Amino acid sequence: MTSKRKLHIKSYGCQMNVYDAQRMVDSLAGEGFVESASAEDADLVILNTCHIREKASEKVYSELGRLRAAKTEAAQNGREMQIAVAGCVAQAEGDEIIRRAPVVDIVVGPQSYHHLPQLIARAKTQGRAIETEFPVQDKFGVLPQPAASAIRARGISAFVTVQEGCDKFCTFCVVPYTRGAEVSRPVEKIVEDVKRLTDNGVREITLIGQNVNAYHGEGKDGASWPLGKLLHRLAEIPGVARMRYSTSHPRDVEDSLIAAHRELPQLMPFVHLPVQSGSDRILAAMNRKHTARDYCEIIERFRASRQDIAFSSDFIVGFPGETEEDFSATLALVTQIGYAAAYSFKYSPRPGTPAADMQETVSTAGMDERLARLQDLINSQQSAFNKAAIGTTMDVLFEAEGRVPGQMVGRSAYLQPVHVMASPDIVGRVLPVTIEKLERYSLFGALASPVSTVQPTPFQMTIGA
Ligand code: SAH
Ligand code: SF4
Ligand code: F3S
Repeated sequence: MTSKRKLHIKSYGCQMNVYDAQRMVDSLAGEGFVESASAEDADLVILNTCHIREKASEKVYSELGRLRAAKTEAAQNGREMQIAVAGCVAQAEGDEIIRRAPVVDIVVGPQSYHHLPQLIARAKTQGRAIETEFPVQDKFGVLPQPAASAIRARGISAFVTVQEGCDKFCTFCVVPYTRGAEVSRPVEKIVEDVKRLTDNGVREITLIGQNVNAYHGEGKDGASWPLGKLLHRLAEIPGVARMRYSTSHPRDVEDSLIAAHRELPQLMPFVHLPVQSGSDRILAAMNRKHTARDYCEIIERFRASRQDIAFSSDFIVGFPGETEEDFSATLALVTQIGYAAAYSFKYSPRPGTPAADMQETVSTAGMDERLARLQDLINSQQSAFNKAAIGTTMDVLFEAEGRVPGQMVGRSAYLQPVHVMASPDIVGRVLPVTIEKLERYSLFGALASPVSTVQPTPFQMTIGA
């Protein structure tokens, strides 16, 4: 048998990239690769890149600079190191990457990961291999490749891709160009993936997609199913204790999704629903196709379906033409909604997007100042939300041992880390915890009932086996 080759993979960007990285590791395991924590001794280094903002996409070139030294050193020791650039920068820049950084051997777009073994072989014989085509879809929007198939279970919580790509074309965003048109996976394929994961100890699944609630996959009945119906089907699978989905778009919030929050106790009451801005003028320039009022009404529909629901969002400050008045409307919206968490970014012009040609740019100093004000407001909401947990009893899904001996860590419905002193056999269980204190973003408490009263479920036996 030939010796194992070492693979080092570094991921940037969104959950989809994290998922894709695991998928690449799993598929290359079949080619004799084992994952390595360090790039220096790897035979293949993959940078799984993100193009969303300039800062994210420039990181790849500084990383490639460092890898050049490692590759030269490997060659001096008679060892070949291949360097691949995957992800959204690969898709957006293609062979331009090799022109700028000749150290790169392989450029592979997100739609072509199933060809990695051939690309690795081609790069060995021909020196370079580049593949960034978008494959043609059939009438159901199904790609002629196995698309995203289940990855190996790596713990208690797992991502499952249900939808990829985006047809929304927000004027600031590269995703429709790097990930292509919206495609949904068939219901039965997702069911198979989730069964496989739960058989291996997974208890929480997060359905992911660039526009997850635009999901319209084909059901067994041949009809197109919305996300709410898919969630109902997945809730029937034994072992699925918790479900989440991310990222959703306000325009695609359908009644079936709202109803799922009322009807499915497994569906966590925490929704990431990015709004970007509170100003209707800016929302229109962004091509979001909803107003601030539409957004607030959607939030109200969610709240009416489940009282304990909480929200997170994304915001962009300094979009071209954003005035102080527009920005005040964003602050007013945040104040009105009251978020449990939120991410905010300075607008970054991206090549090829319509907003990049807009003239009325906001100064960097102006953006910095607005970002600081917005983040102050968001932080105060987040800490108020976390503080409100003190004294309450909340369900926690335990995932792992904590840093302190004897301590276990899990997550609340709202993804807050919760620490208790308990025995390691609570991993994989959802248990009520009475919260005693908050330190930074972590909650600390005590199990609310003796653990021995909780029946272990069959799949817990497989954990760690
Ligand atoms: N599909 C998701 C978001 C994907 S990108 C959605 O529609 O909401 C994640 C976040 O990055 C976006 O919500 C947005 O806030 C931010 N973002 C995207 N493009 C950006 C740009 N050009 N400059 C700054 N932030 C950007
Ligand atoms: Fe980008 Fe808009 Fe699509 Fe989200 S909905 S991925 S922000 S184009
Ligand atoms: Fe980045 Fe591509 Fe995700 S641009 S955010 S890695 S879809």
